[in-house]
Amino acid sequence: MTVDIHVEFRVSDAVKAVKRGDAIVIIDVLRCSSTIITALANGASEIVPAPTIGKAKQLKKRHPNYILAGERKGLMPQGFELGNSPREFTREKINGRSIILTTTNGTKAFEIAKDAKPVLVGSFLNAGAVGKALYEGANKNNRGISLIACGRATRLSIEDFICAGKILEMMPTDELTLSDGAHAALFASKGAGEKVAELVCSSEHGRYLKSIGLIKDIEFCSRINRYTDVPLFAKGKIRTGKFSKL
Ligand code: MLT
Repeated sequence: MTVDIHVEFRVSDAVKAVKRGDAIVIIDVLRCSSTIITALANGASEIVPAPTIGKAKQLKKRHPNYILAGERKGLMPQGFELGNSPREFTREKINGRSIILTTTNGTKAFEIAKDAKPVLVGSFLNAGAVGKALYEGANKNNRGISLIACGRATRLSIEDFICAGKILEMMPTDELTLSDGAHAALFASKGAGEKVAELVCSSEHGRYLKSIGLIKDIEFCSRINRYTDVPLFAKGKIRTGKFSKL
């Protein structure tokens, strides 16, 4: 059996993956995906992604107990309780709570992918677990896989691109049919080798986060396989997924 693998480079290209009927992985290393993975690993009961601040505030009105979190230009919007730094989502703050999350780019990808199945969340933090879940799920269901490297402001981001390659490195790629984009991501990830953290730090988005005092987020988001959870987005909510249900 062959599994077709695509890597897309912008949020808007998730539309193509939805049309193909692929399993989708949303990758926004800095920082939406990393925040979602960390929050769930630290006991959040679910994350509700919202594409806009207005939508997030409406949800908060309906669910006053949910934590309102997110960023614009990297910083917490006025009236929010948490920003989008994965380091803020500690067990003490969020254990058992539901979170509404709106970010500049990443949460828009969920809106586009809402009718796809399955939709997973990947970053360096859980690359190994995502690779394993994808391969097992795709084999069972005979569907293609699209890794959406969300990028930044409609442009490619090297950290998301390399992360897509890192997830591919965790899969038996000789059994898969890679698009040229997927081949390129795999080459980039292998080329990055041990220098992932350095590359994330020197990326455009990394440099921006550094300029607003968030260098520790870059270090946090560059760690590979810190978690084994695979968040799954379904019916408007992201929860920790079970491999068998993909
Ligand atoms: C986004 O979704 O655009 C990012 O997560 C932005 C960030 O928080 O750095």
